[in-house]
Amino acid sequence: MTDLVEHTPGAIWIADYPVHYAGIDLTARMTIIRLKDGRLLLHSPCEINGALKEKIEALGTPAFIVAPGSYHYFHVPSAQAAFPDAETWICPGVERKRPEMEFDWILSDHAPDAWAGEIEQVLVRGTRLIWEVAFFHKASKTLILVDLIENIGDATPNTDWQLKFWWKAVFHMWNKPRPAPEYQIGWKDKAAARTSLTRILEWDFIRIIIAHGENIENDAKQTARQAWATPLAEG
Ligand SMILES: [Fe+2]
Repeated sequence: MTDLVEHTPGAIWIADYPVHYAGIDLTARMTIIRLKDGRLLLHSPCEINGALKEKIEALGTPAFIVAPGSYHYFHVPSAQAAFPDAETWICPGVERKRPEMEFDWILSDHAPDAWAGEIEQVLVRGTRLIWEVAFFHKASKTLILVDLIENIGDATPNTDWQLKFWWKAVFHMWNKPRPAPEYQIGWKDKAAARTSLTRILEWDFIRIIIAHGENIENDAKQTARQAWATPLAEG
Protein backbone atom coordinates (compact mmCIF):
# COMPACT_ATOMS: atom_id res chain seq x y z
CA MET A 1 0.00 0.00 0.00
CA THR A 2 1.26 3.43 -0.86
CA ASP A 3 2.07 5.54 2.18
CA LEU A 4 1.87 9.31 2.35
CA VAL A 5 4.80 10.92 4.16
CA GLU A 6 4.67 14.50 5.37
CA HIS A 7 7.71 16.18 3.83
CA THR A 8 7.01 19.80 4.77
CA PRO A 9 4.68 20.21 7.75
CA GLY A 10 1.23 21.18 6.58
CA ALA A 11 2.29 21.84 3.00
CA ILE A 12 3.96 18.96 1.13
CA TRP A 13 3.47 15.20 1.26
CA ILE A 14 5.22 12.55 -0.81
CA ALA A 15 4.38 8.97 -1.71
CA ASP A 16 6.84 6.48 -3.19
CA TYR A 17 5.58 3.68 -5.41
CA PRO A 18 7.21 0.98 -7.53
CA VAL A 19 7.56 1.33 -11.29
CA HIS A 20 8.90 -1.01 -13.94
CA TYR A 21 10.44 0.82 -16.86
CA ALA A 22 12.66 -0.51 -19.68
CA GLY A 23 13.23 -3.74 -17.80
CA ILE A 24 14.34 -1.97 -14.61
CA ASP A 25 12.53 -1.93 -11.26
CA LEU A 26 12.77 1.38 -9.47
CA THR A 27 10.52 3.71 -7.53
CA ALA A 28 8.73 6.87 -8.50
CA ARG A 29 7.37 9.59 -6.26
CA MET A 30 4.13 11.54 -6.14
CA THR A 31 4.22 14.96 -4.48
CA ILE A 32 1.14 16.60 -3.03
CA ILE A 33 1.22 20.33 -2.35
CA ARG A 34 -1.45 21.97 -0.22
CA LEU A 35 -2.16 25.56 -1.21
CA LYS A 36 -2.98 28.06 1.50
CA ASP A 37 -6.72 27.80 0.79
CA GLY A 38 -6.68 24.03 1.31
CA ARG A 39 -6.72 22.99 -2.34
CA LEU A 40 -4.33 20.19 -3.24
CA LEU A 41 -2.06 19.88 -6.26
CA LEU A 42 -1.21 16.26 -7.08
CA HIS A 43 2.14 16.29 -8.89
CA SER A 44 2.99 13.16 -10.87
CA PRO A 45 0.25 11.08 -9.25
CA CYS A 46 0.55 7.40 -8.59
CA GLU A 47 -2.39 5.04 -8.91
CA ILE A 48 -5.02 6.25 -6.46
CA ASN A 49 -6.74 3.37 -4.68
CA GLY A 50 -9.51 3.63 -2.13
CA ALA A 51 -7.34 3.89 1.00
CA LEU A 52 -4.99 6.43 -0.55
CA LYS A 53 -7.94 8.46 -1.85
CA GLU A 54 -9.24 8.81 1.69
CA LYS A 55 -5.82 9.82 3.01
CA ILE A 56 -5.50 12.48 0.33
CA GLU A 57 -9.00 13.83 0.94
CA ALA A 58 -8.13 14.15 4.63
CA LEU A 59 -5.39 16.63 3.65
CA GLY A 60 -7.56 19.01 1.65
CA THR A 61 -9.52 19.35 -1.57
CA PRO A 62 -7.89 17.64 -4.55
CA ALA A 63 -8.13 20.45 -7.11
CA PHE A 64 -5.28 19.96 -9.57
CA ILE A 65 -3.84 16.82 -11.18
CA VAL A 66 -0.48 17.62 -12.73
CA ALA A 67 1.42 15.48 -15.23
CA PRO A 68 4.70 17.39 -15.04
CA GLY A 69 6.84 15.47 -17.49
CA SER A 70 6.87 13.70 -20.82
CA TYR A 71 7.13 10.40 -18.90
CA HIS A 72 5.03 11.29 -15.88
CA TYR A 73 1.38 10.96 -16.85
CA PHE A 74 0.70 7.21 -16.56
CA HIS A 75 -1.62 7.34 -13.55
CA VAL A 76 -3.46 10.53 -14.46
CA PRO A 77 -6.63 8.58 -15.46
CA SER A 78 -6.64 6.88 -12.05
CA ALA A 79 -6.38 10.27 -10.31
CA GLN A 80 -9.12 11.68 -12.54
CA ALA A 81 -11.39 8.76 -11.65
CA ALA A 82 -10.72 9.29 -7.95
CA PHE A 83 -11.11 13.07 -8.08
CA PRO A 84 -13.47 13.93 -10.96
CA ASP A 85 -13.81 17.58 -9.90
CA ALA A 86 -10.05 18.24 -10.18
CA GLU A 87 -8.55 20.04 -13.19
CA THR A 88 -5.88 18.15 -15.13
CA TRP A 89 -2.76 20.03 -16.24
CA ILE A 90 -0.28 18.28 -18.53
CA CYS A 91 3.27 18.91 -19.69
CA PRO A 92 3.36 20.07 -23.34
CA GLY A 93 3.66 17.06 -25.62
CA VAL A 94 1.76 14.62 -23.44
CA GLU A 95 -1.34 15.40 -25.52
CA ARG A 96 0.53 13.99 -28.55
CA LYS A 97 1.81 10.92 -26.71
CA ARG A 98 -1.59 10.10 -25.20
CA PRO A 99 -4.22 11.70 -27.45
CA GLU A 100 -6.98 9.72 -25.76
CA MET A 101 -6.17 11.09 -22.31
CA GLU A 102 -8.49 13.83 -21.12
CA PHE A 103 -7.02 17.05 -19.78
CA ASP A 104 -8.07 20.62 -19.09
CA TRP A 105 -4.93 22.70 -19.61
CA ILE A 106 -1.38 22.43 -20.90
CA LEU A 107 1.29 23.69 -18.52
CA SER A 108 3.22 26.68 -19.77
CA ASP A 109 6.39 28.45 -18.83
CA HIS A 110 4.58 30.55 -16.26
CA ALA A 111 2.42 29.56 -13.32
CA PRO A 112 -1.33 29.96 -13.90
CA ASP A 113 -3.38 32.20 -11.61
CA ALA A 114 -4.57 29.07 -9.80
CA TRP A 115 -1.26 28.71 -7.95
CA ALA A 116 0.93 31.60 -9.15
CA GLY A 117 1.34 33.19 -5.73
CA GLU A 118 2.65 30.03 -4.13
CA ILE A 119 4.29 27.93 -6.84
CA GLU A 120 6.44 29.02 -9.77
CA GLN A 121 7.25 26.94 -12.82
CA VAL A 122 9.65 26.68 -15.76
CA LEU A 123 9.25 24.58 -18.90
CA VAL A 124 12.66 23.10 -19.65
CA ARG A 125 13.43 23.60 -23.33
CA GLY A 126 16.20 22.42 -25.60
CA THR A 127 15.85 18.73 -24.89
CA ARG A 128 14.87 16.15 -27.48
CA LEU A 129 13.88 12.86 -25.84
CA ILE A 130 12.41 13.85 -22.50
CA TRP A 131 11.20 17.11 -21.03
CA GLU A 132 9.36 18.48 -18.04
CA VAL A 133 8.04 21.47 -16.19
CA ALA A 134 9.99 22.25 -13.01
CA PHE A 135 8.11 23.64 -9.99
CA PHE A 136 9.22 25.77 -7.06
CA HIS A 137 7.19 25.87 -3.84
CA LYS A 138 8.12 29.26 -2.54
CA ALA A 139 7.14 29.03 1.14
CA SER A 140 9.27 25.92 1.76
CA LYS A 141 12.00 26.82 -0.76
CA THR A 142 11.52 23.42 -2.37
CA LEU A 143 12.32 22.66 -6.00
CA ILE A 144 10.15 19.83 -7.34
CA LEU A 145 11.41 17.87 -10.34
CA VAL A 146 10.72 14.53 -11.90
CA ASP A 147 13.58 13.42 -14.17
CA LEU A 148 15.89 16.45 -14.34
CA ILE A 149 17.78 14.94 -11.41
CA GLU A 150 17.82 11.28 -10.42
CA ASN A 151 19.67 10.29 -7.26
CA ILE A 152 20.09 6.55 -6.94
CA GLY A 153 22.90 4.91 -4.98
CA ASP A 154 23.92 3.27 -1.72
CA ALA A 155 21.25 5.16 0.25
CA THR A 156 18.43 4.03 -2.02
CA PRO A 157 16.40 1.15 -0.55
CA ASN A 158 15.46 -1.98 -2.48
CA THR A 159 17.84 -1.64 -5.40
CA ASP A 160 18.22 -4.91 -7.30
CA TRP A 161 21.25 -6.05 -9.33
CA GLN A 162 19.77 -4.90 -12.62
CA LEU A 163 19.26 -1.34 -11.38
CA LYS A 164 22.79 -1.35 -9.94
CA PHE A 165 24.24 -2.66 -13.18
CA TRP A 166 22.59 0.01 -15.33
CA TRP A 167 23.28 2.86 -12.93
CA LYS A 168 26.89 1.86 -12.19
CA ALA A 169 28.26 0.26 -15.35
CA VAL A 170 26.19 1.84 -18.09
CA PHE A 171 24.97 5.26 -16.96
CA HIS A 172 27.71 6.04 -14.37
CA MET A 173 25.08 7.65 -12.16
CA TRP A 174 25.39 5.51 -9.01
CA ASN A 175 25.74 7.87 -6.01
CA LYS A 176 25.84 10.78 -8.46
CA PRO A 177 22.74 12.96 -8.85
CA ARG A 178 22.34 13.40 -12.60
CA PRO A 179 19.58 14.00 -15.16
CA ALA A 180 17.78 10.92 -16.48
CA PRO A 181 19.80 9.21 -19.24
CA GLU A 182 17.25 10.38 -21.82
CA TYR A 183 18.25 13.95 -20.94
CA GLN A 184 21.97 13.22 -21.03
CA ILE A 185 21.91 11.81 -24.54
CA GLY A 186 19.35 14.25 -25.86
CA TRP A 187 20.41 17.84 -25.18
CA LYS A 188 19.46 19.27 -28.57
CA ASP A 189 19.78 22.97 -28.01
CA LYS A 190 22.09 23.58 -25.08
CA ALA A 191 21.58 27.35 -25.19
CA ALA A 192 17.82 26.91 -24.79
CA ALA A 193 18.33 24.32 -22.04
CA ARG A 194 20.81 26.64 -20.32
CA THR A 195 18.27 29.47 -20.32
CA SER A 196 15.65 27.23 -18.69
CA LEU A 197 18.04 25.73 -16.14
CA THR A 198 19.41 29.16 -15.27
CA ARG A 199 15.88 30.34 -14.51
CA ILE A 200 15.49 27.36 -12.16
CA LEU A 201 18.81 28.13 -10.47
CA GLU A 202 17.62 31.70 -9.83
CA TRP A 203 14.94 30.34 -7.50
CA ASP A 204 15.91 30.40 -3.85
CA PHE A 205 15.59 26.65 -3.28
CA ILE A 206 17.27 24.74 -0.47
CA ARG A 207 15.82 21.26 -1.11
CA ILE A 208 14.85 19.22 -4.15
CA ILE A 209 12.11 16.63 -4.35
CA ILE A 210 12.75 14.27 -7.25
CA ALA A 211 10.83 11.31 -8.67
CA HIS A 212 13.54 8.65 -8.65
CA GLY A 213 15.92 8.09 -5.75
CA GLU A 214 16.72 10.06 -2.63
CA ASN A 215 15.51 13.64 -2.36
CA ILE A 216 18.24 16.26 -2.12
CA GLU A 217 18.05 17.79 1.35
CA ASN A 218 21.53 19.38 1.53
CA ASP A 219 23.62 21.52 -0.83
CA ALA A 220 20.67 21.56 -3.19
CA LYS A 221 21.76 24.32 -5.50
CA GLN A 222 25.31 23.05 -5.79
CA THR A 223 23.97 19.56 -6.50
CA ALA A 224 21.73 20.90 -9.27
CA ARG A 225 24.57 22.91 -10.83
CA GLN A 226 26.76 19.81 -10.82
CA ALA A 227 24.02 17.60 -12.25
CA TRP A 228 23.42 20.06 -15.08
CA ALA A 229 27.08 20.90 -15.77
CA THR A 230 26.90 19.72 -19.40
CA PRO A 231 23.99 21.86 -20.60
CA LEU A 232 25.10 24.75 -18.38
CA ALA A 233 28.57 24.80 -19.99
CA GLU A 234 28.96 27.42 -22.69
CA GLY A 235 29.53 26.23 -26.25
FE1 LIG B 1 10.73 9.53 -14.43
